[in-house]
Amino acid sequence: MTDRYCVFGNPIKHSKSPFIHGEFAHQTHQTIEYTAQQAPLDGFANAWRAFVDVGGRGANVTVPFKGDAFALCDTLSHRARRAGAVNTLIVGGNGRTYGDTTDGIGLVRDLAYHRVALIGKRILVVGAGGAVRGVLEPLLAEQPSEVVVVNRTAEKAEQLTDDFADLGTIRGGGFDTLSGQFDIVINGTSASLSGDLPPLPDTLFAANAWAYDMMYGPEPTIFLQWAGPRGAKLLDGLGMLVEQAAESFFLWRNVRPETAPVREMLRKSLEFDEL
Ligand code: ATR
Repeated sequence: MTDRYCVFGNPIKHSKSPFIHGEFAHQTHQTIEYTAQQAPLDGFANAWRAFVDVGGRGANVTVPFKGDAFALCDTLSHRARRAGAVNTLIVGGNGRTYGDTTDGIGLVRDLAYHRVALIGKRILVVGAGGAVRGVLEPLLAEQPSEVVVVNRTAEKAEQLTDDFADLGTIRGGGFDTLSGQFDIVINGTSASLSGDLPPLPDTLFAANAWAYDMMYGPEPTIFLQWAGPRGAKLLDGLGMLVEQAAESFFLWRNVRPETAPVREMLRKSLEFDEL
């Protein structure tokens, strides 16, 4: 029987994961089936169990189920526990569910792909929601000189950074606490979705700085449109999407796919709105 995988979300129609994993499977000669499944908002756990019952071996989990996935796992990876979220489910040999998160490593791998060194650098992360919580551990593991987290709701940034203080130099606060320049500025807010720009100073970027938006789209996000003229080199979240998928694929199949061709195909498909 073909090993089955899927991505769960709600909505899920526009997910690019079936395309990405289909390409990975083709490239690495793995015979798998990967589909997109919309779970009911109040029925994620049942949807997962039903999938396992019909031969599901693993799944990706996206909005809004990463917390539900976290809650149902029998075993969690260390990084999933820190992130408080699961984006990759794996059925163990004994039928138990193992949960991991590959979002943070996806970001770090994407930065490495673009040869953005993090060691000794000053990093600003904008936002303090689930997406940011998921990336702080892998970012701190790269030994930046400092990670600063700013958020519209200052207390959320303070609380979040307290949870990671044992892993490196990290502090959080409101936008009014911002000072100095940064080598890498990562937008992890959902503000781009509503066309909003976080209130950041014009003088934010150090020489040769990078601006990274965890969102992506056919056009540069409003944050990247703002950062470009202020001297930053620009990256969006498409590479992170492909790299987190590659890490999930590796966890399931123990084979590491090449991400470069899939990045190219996805970028082209965005231009022509194909997928
Ligand atoms: P996600 O899982 O995508 O991180 P989330 O947990 O709802 O979603 O977090 C959304 C993040 O975007 C938060 O940091 C939020 O700021 P608040 O904590 O102050 O709500 C931020 N955000 C959303 N819309 C924003 C806007 N228009 N301006 C600034 N920050 C915004």
